[in-house]
Amino acid sequence: MPDFTTPPQLRVATAADADAIAALHTASWRSAYRDALSEAYLRGPIEQERLVFWRDRYRHAGPGLWTVVAEDAKGSLVGFLCALLDHDRDWGNYIHNLHVDPDAKQQGIGRMMMRAAADHFVYALPRRPVYLFVLQSNIAAQAFYNRLGGDPVEELVATQPDGTSARAIRYAWPSVAAFADGVA
Ligand SMILES: CC(C)(COP(=O)(O)OP(=O)(O)OC[C@H]1O[C@@H](n2cnc3c(N)ncnc32)[C@H](O)[C@@H]1OP(=O)(O)O)[C@@H](O)C(=O)NCCC(=O)NCCS
Repeated sequence: MPDFTTPPQLRVATAADADAIAALHTASWRSAYRDALSEAYLRGPIEQERLVFWRDRYRHAGPGLWTVVAEDAKGSLVGFLCALLDHDRDWGNYIHNLHVDPDAKQQGIGRMMMRAAADHFVYALPRRPVYLFVLQSNIAAQAFYNRLGGDPVEELVATQPDGTSARAIRYAWPSVAAFADGVA
């Protein structure tokens, strides 16, 4: 269980965090994506697949990769947010991954990391909009993004890491200022 005898602390991730991020990503998908990803993938291959994904991501990291992690009092990872800055010419800064430890949800860590992303966007790319995708079946995350001022702007079909397809919703904020207001 996470140790919150002191408040969670945020810091910018480095390549050294890739394995811990992969482990938390795996735990979060196993908990929250039981209906969205295949049972066979979640039972086994996910661990190696996420490890390869995150190690590769840092091995080939471009200047637009920015990840913030949240740690508990013992320094264990309890959340991460990975953004790809200026990823899309029209839609702007892409929040590609956002996960909180299943035992630490709804305690403000998700909002805290979105706020850190807003601070970074204001500094790095103040004029760009912000967007992300959420699965149509992920009602809980949609409630979170609605609360943080995101607009569900379109639906499309996405290919998932287990090879299946799923309907996803694009959430967008028209500017960094709107994003910063929503997550404040
Ligand atoms: C979605 C997720 C990142 C949200 O992070 P969190 O730390 O649980 O959320 P927070 O505690 O920061 O919540 C912020 C606000 O959203 C609301 N909210 C969060 N989860 C909610 C839910 N399931 N239903 C309704 N509202 C919710 C909170 O009430 C809170 O409102 P407030 O600040 O006005 O009190 C987290 O729950 C998670 O990791 N889920 C599993 C993985 C996932 O779905 N990631 C998103 C992929 S697109």
